[in-house]
Amino acid sequence: MHKAEPYATTEQFMKKTIIATLTLIASAGLSWAGAPEGKEVYTAKCAPCHGANGEGKAAIAKMYNVTLPALSSKEVQAKTDAELQAVILKGQGKMKPVSGVTEKQAADVVAFVRTLK
Ligand code: HEC
Repeated sequence: MHKAEPYATTEQFMKKTIIATLTLIASAGLSWAGAPEGKEVYTAKCAPCHGANGEGKAAIAKMYNVTLPALSSKEVQAKTDAELQAVILKGQGKMKPVSGVTEKQAADVVAFVRTLK
């Protein structure tokens, strides 16, 4: 019967360790799950104007009469994740808000845009 207490303590320790490990896996998983998912959204929603690798389509730049900055450029990469997300969801300058993109998808797209550096 004396063994009961240390066993309970070990069990508690194990539970805490398992929860901590799962939390770590979940957060690490989320941070790299974003980019591949974002690539799909990017290809469907952004590539028609910004090109497959964010280089920008000349015809679109001409049509909007703007210089489309490469998404890999310092200028764009200097923006925070929140700012980039706002460009997608609220638009900026001549770029209209991109329709049919959820906040989560916008965050995924931003993760993908970060891989363009
Ligand atoms: C219909 C064409 C079109 C689509 C679709 C589009 N954009 Fe744009 N985007 C533009 C244009 C045009 C500009 C330049 C706006 C300006 O300079 O006034 C721009 C600018 C940007 C910029 C630069 C903003 C800055 O201030 O430097 C980012 C970042 C960007 N777009 C990201 C995206 C992402 C991510 C998507 C997809 C979710 C997307 N765009 C979809 C046309 C588009």
